Amino acid sequence: MPKLKPTLRQLRVFESVADELSFTRASEKLHLSQPAVSIQVKQLEEGVGLPLFEHAGKKISLTEAGWILYRCSQTIRNVLEGAGEQIDELQGLQRGKLDITVATTASYFASRILAGFASRFPQIAISLDVTNREGLLQQLELNQCDLVIMGEPPKGKRLTSVPIMENPLVIIASTDHPLAGRRKIPVKELGKQGFVFREAGSGTRAAILRFLEEKGVSIQINMEMTSNEAIKQTVQAGMGLGIVSRHTVELELETGSLVELDVAHFPLKRFWYLVRRSDKQLSPVAQRFASFVLDSENYRSTND
Ligand code: PGA
Repeated sequence: MPKLKPTLRQLRVFESVADELSFTRASEKLHLSQPAVSIQVKQLEEGVGLPLFEHAGKKISLTEAGWILYRCSQTIRNVLEGAGEQIDELQGLQRGKLDITVATTASYFASRILAGFASRFPQIAISLDVTNREGLLQQLELNQCDLVIMGEPPKGKRLTSVPIMENPLVIIASTDHPLAGRRKIPVKELGKQGFVFREAGSGTRAAILRFLEEKGVSIQINMEMTSNEAIKQTVQAGMGLGIVSRHTVELELETGSLVELDVAHFPLKRFWYLVRRSDKQLSPVAQRFASFVLDSENYRSTND
């Protein structure tokens, strides 16, 4: 039994001959020589195992097999054109999906960025996952997301990262805390205080502990919690001091429900990074999101 395995080129030539009912006109239309057109049709006929054209003098017409292949060829062309249009739409960002994961602490500003992106590209489905630094690194390792927003990623993990924004860490206290309102508090004084801290796996926690270790200060952790909101409530209730990103307490500092302590070396200077796997082929949507985030800033990219 003959094997029908036409190439797209053969089908294009065949369709053209069938449309023109002339090898000469088809070859002119396709800018090919007439023998080249004849060879393509002959190869196709060999594959079909039947003639595709009937010759009556100089006139040609489609055989029954020719009609079957002609209709089939049109369907294939329509399907491919449809796929091309969809891909164009995708590149024009008319549709698509964006999978973003952000650090728990980054969710405070990331949702604003996503809202801006969503209003500009309303057809794009956005999925936002929020987890701590450890969870983010695991997602990157397993290639489960397009891009993440997190604190500085560790070296040697084959990640590409771009700093996008400052992330100042501040010490917060209830308004009636004895240290509230004091100026230039030495960092050593923190050793006498109880703290409400983020959970193990949090990037904020790791950065603070690194800093305190460098300064030789050991603190007392009264409570641990996975949510910045819970930390704020607990600090407000007078259960200890908190160290959080200033992004998470803007409103409370403005309304005066919490105070920022004036401690030496604080705010600790950190940065938020836009991070992806170095080997990740970003979709057009993810690429557009990355430039949307970076648009306003001219930051340097770091690869490892
Ligand atoms: P986290 O995030 O403390 O919410 O884990 C910050 C970071 O990645 O540094």
